[in-house]
Amino acid sequence: MTIFQTVADVRVFSHLSAASQTSATEYLASARALLDELVRTPHLLAGVPLHRVTGGYGRTLLFGDGRISVWALVWAAGAKTVIHDHHCSCCFGMLQGSIREIWFQALDDRRAVVSGGKMRVQGDVACMMPNGANLHQMVNDETQEAISLHVYGFDHEAHASSIHREYERVDQ
Ligand SMILES: [Fe+2]
Repeated sequence: MTIFQTVADVRVFSHLSAASQTSATEYLASARALLDELVRTPHLLAGVPLHRVTGGYGRTLLFGDGRISVWALVWAAGAKTVIHDHHCSCCFGMLQGSIREIWFQALDDRRAVVSGGKMRVQGDVACMMPNGANLHQMVNDETQEAISLHVYGFDHEAHASSIHREYERVDQ
Protein backbone atom coordinates (compact mmCIF):
# COMPACT_ATOMS: atom_id res chain seq x y z
CA MET A 1 0.00 0.00 0.00
CA THR A 2 1.09 3.56 -0.46
CA ILE A 3 -0.06 7.10 0.03
CA PHE A 4 3.17 8.45 -1.35
CA GLN A 5 2.19 9.01 -4.95
CA THR A 6 1.98 12.79 -4.53
CA VAL A 7 5.74 13.00 -4.22
CA ALA A 8 7.70 10.34 -5.95
CA ASP A 9 6.70 7.55 -8.19
CA VAL A 10 5.97 4.52 -6.06
CA ARG A 11 8.33 2.59 -8.31
CA VAL A 12 11.34 4.00 -6.47
CA PHE A 13 10.16 2.15 -3.38
CA SER A 14 9.42 -0.98 -5.32
CA HIS A 15 12.97 -0.85 -6.65
CA LEU A 16 14.28 -0.38 -3.14
CA SER A 17 12.18 -3.30 -1.97
CA ALA A 18 13.72 -5.46 -4.70
CA ALA A 19 17.18 -4.25 -3.63
CA SER A 20 16.44 -5.54 -0.12
CA GLN A 21 16.73 -9.03 -1.58
CA THR A 22 20.33 -8.41 -2.68
CA SER A 23 23.34 -8.03 -0.39
CA ALA A 24 23.13 -5.87 2.73
CA THR A 25 25.79 -3.55 1.32
CA GLU A 26 23.91 -3.04 -1.91
CA TYR A 27 20.59 -2.54 -0.18
CA LEU A 28 21.96 0.02 2.30
CA ALA A 29 23.61 1.93 -0.54
CA SER A 30 20.26 2.05 -2.37
CA ALA A 31 18.37 3.12 0.77
CA ARG A 32 20.93 5.84 1.53
CA ALA A 33 20.86 7.16 -2.02
CA LEU A 34 17.07 7.34 -2.02
CA LEU A 35 16.87 9.01 1.38
CA ASP A 36 19.61 11.46 0.36
CA GLU A 37 17.45 12.51 -2.53
CA LEU A 38 14.17 12.60 -0.61
CA VAL A 39 15.43 14.71 2.29
CA ARG A 40 16.59 17.28 -0.22
CA THR A 41 13.23 17.46 -1.96
CA PRO A 42 11.37 20.64 -0.99
CA HIS A 43 7.76 20.13 0.03
CA LEU A 44 8.25 16.37 -0.12
CA LEU A 45 5.24 15.66 2.07
CA ALA A 46 3.07 18.59 1.04
CA GLY A 47 -0.52 17.40 0.95
CA VAL A 48 0.23 14.18 2.83
CA PRO A 49 -1.78 14.00 6.06
CA LEU A 50 0.74 13.20 8.79
CA HIS A 51 -0.06 11.80 12.22
CA ARG A 52 0.98 14.04 15.06
CA VAL A 53 1.01 13.16 18.76
CA THR A 54 1.02 15.88 21.39
CA GLY A 55 4.38 15.77 23.16
CA GLY A 56 5.34 12.58 21.35
CA TYR A 57 5.99 11.26 17.88
CA GLY A 58 3.42 10.28 15.26
CA ARG A 59 4.09 7.71 12.55
CA THR A 60 2.57 7.73 9.08
CA LEU A 61 3.04 4.79 6.74
CA LEU A 62 4.01 6.11 3.31
CA PHE A 63 4.77 2.84 1.58
CA GLY A 64 4.76 -0.78 2.61
CA ASP A 65 5.02 -4.17 0.96
CA GLY A 66 6.05 -7.56 2.29
CA ARG A 67 9.71 -6.54 2.56
CA ILE A 68 10.14 -2.88 3.45
CA SER A 69 8.09 -0.10 4.96
CA VAL A 70 8.63 3.64 4.67
CA TRP A 71 7.37 5.95 7.39
CA ALA A 72 7.29 9.64 8.13
CA LEU A 73 7.79 10.45 11.81
CA VAL A 74 6.71 13.81 13.15
CA TRP A 75 8.47 14.66 16.41
CA ALA A 76 6.88 17.20 18.69
CA ALA A 77 9.24 19.26 20.82
CA GLY A 78 10.28 17.03 23.72
CA ALA A 79 9.33 13.77 21.98
CA LYS A 80 11.58 10.77 22.52
CA THR A 81 11.65 7.07 21.83
CA VAL A 82 12.38 4.42 24.40
CA ILE A 83 15.93 3.05 24.33
CA HIS A 84 15.66 0.24 21.83
CA ASP A 85 17.34 -2.00 19.30
CA HIS A 86 15.91 -3.32 16.03
CA HIS A 87 14.89 -6.62 14.55
CA CYS A 88 15.46 -5.31 11.01
CA SER A 89 17.49 -2.84 8.98
CA CYS A 90 16.72 0.79 9.75
CA CYS A 91 17.66 3.82 7.64
CA PHE A 92 16.47 7.32 8.33
CA GLY A 93 16.90 10.82 6.97
CA MET A 94 16.10 14.21 8.46
CA LEU A 95 13.60 16.13 6.40
CA GLN A 96 13.03 18.98 8.80
CA GLY A 97 14.45 20.07 12.15
CA SER A 98 16.93 18.15 14.30
CA ILE A 99 16.89 15.01 16.41
CA ARG A 100 19.51 13.96 18.93
CA GLU A 101 20.47 10.32 18.54
CA ILE A 102 21.96 8.76 21.67
CA TRP A 103 23.84 5.48 21.23
CA PHE A 104 23.96 2.78 23.87
CA GLN A 105 25.85 -0.36 24.64
CA ALA A 106 23.88 -3.25 26.12
CA LEU A 107 24.94 -4.64 29.49
CA ASP A 108 22.43 -7.46 29.09
CA ASP A 109 19.11 -7.79 27.29
CA ARG A 110 17.46 -5.24 29.60
CA ARG A 111 20.01 -2.60 30.59
CA ALA A 112 22.25 -0.29 28.58
CA VAL A 113 24.82 2.46 29.09
CA VAL A 114 25.41 5.51 26.92
CA SER A 115 28.24 5.03 24.43
CA GLY A 116 27.97 8.19 22.33
CA GLY A 117 25.61 10.18 20.21
CA LYS A 118 25.10 12.58 17.36
CA MET A 119 22.87 15.48 16.47
CA ARG A 120 21.01 14.58 13.29
CA VAL A 121 20.20 17.72 11.34
CA GLN A 122 18.21 18.41 8.21
CA GLY A 123 19.68 16.46 5.29
CA ASP A 124 21.45 13.84 7.43
CA VAL A 125 20.97 10.17 6.55
CA ALA A 126 21.99 7.18 8.70
CA CYS A 127 21.61 3.40 8.41
CA MET A 128 21.95 0.48 10.76
CA MET A 129 21.60 -3.26 10.44
CA PRO A 130 20.14 -5.62 13.05
CA ASN A 131 23.46 -7.46 13.36
CA GLY A 132 25.47 -4.28 13.94
CA ALA A 133 25.49 -1.43 16.43
CA ASN A 134 21.84 -0.48 16.48
CA LEU A 135 20.92 0.32 20.08
CA HIS A 136 19.78 3.89 20.41
CA GLN A 137 17.28 6.47 21.55
CA MET A 138 16.05 9.43 19.52
CA VAL A 139 15.07 12.67 21.21
CA ASN A 140 13.74 15.97 19.95
CA ASP A 141 15.19 18.30 22.55
CA GLU A 142 14.70 21.33 20.32
CA THR A 143 11.74 23.70 20.56
CA GLN A 144 10.68 23.06 16.95
CA GLU A 145 8.85 20.12 15.42
CA ALA A 146 11.07 17.71 13.48
CA ILE A 147 10.20 15.35 10.63
CA SER A 148 12.22 12.29 9.64
CA LEU A 149 11.80 9.62 6.98
CA HIS A 150 12.47 5.98 7.90
CA VAL A 151 12.98 2.97 5.69
CA TYR A 152 12.73 -0.30 7.60
CA GLY A 153 13.31 -3.84 6.46
CA PHE A 154 10.05 -5.12 7.91
CA ASP A 155 6.58 -5.92 6.69
CA HIS A 156 4.22 -3.44 8.34
CA GLU A 157 1.49 -6.08 8.42
CA ALA A 158 3.70 -8.56 10.29
CA HIS A 159 5.32 -6.23 12.83
CA ALA A 160 4.00 -3.25 14.78
CA SER A 161 7.36 -1.49 14.64
CA SER A 162 11.09 -1.99 14.09
CA ILE A 163 11.75 -2.32 17.82
CA HIS A 164 13.26 -5.60 18.96
CA ARG A 165 13.84 -4.92 22.69
CA GLU A 166 13.47 -2.00 25.03
CA TYR A 167 16.22 -1.16 27.53
CA GLU A 168 16.55 0.90 30.64
CA ARG A 169 19.40 3.33 30.96
CA VAL A 170 22.04 2.64 33.56
CA ASP A 171 24.52 5.38 34.46
CA GLN A 172 27.90 4.11 35.52
FE1 LIG B 1 15.37 3.11 16.21
